[in-house]
Amino acid sequence: MSMHPLLRRRYRLDETPVPFVLNGAPETGRRGDTVLTAILSVSGRLRTSEFTGEDRAGFCLIGACQDCYVMLADGSRVRACSTALRPGMAFITDPGEMAEAAHE
Ligand code: FES
Repeated sequence: MSMHPLLRRRYRLDETPVPFVLNGAPETGRRGDTVLTAILSVSGRLRTSEFTGEDRAGFCLIGACQDCYVMLADGSRVRACSTALRPGMAFITDPGEMAEAAHE
């Protein structure tokens, strides 16, 4: 698994920071980010496929394929490509932590 961010922010570098949590670590997105762009700006993957174990980064990016669902810390899921990042959102994309959250 690559830990280098898949996306590199090139514009809006001075946009308002939006704090969020990814697998327990504090991260920062920018106002106007989707959940997908915020996560992929700090991580090499969006989630791990529950079927193949492979890293996923979304597919259609327009809300049609459901490849980008990510789990929030409360156990709910959001479609990352079409959900706006909000301050304080906490995501679990690490497979070990996902299994732990599912049993809580
Ligand atoms: S990437 Fe296809 S629905 Fe989000």
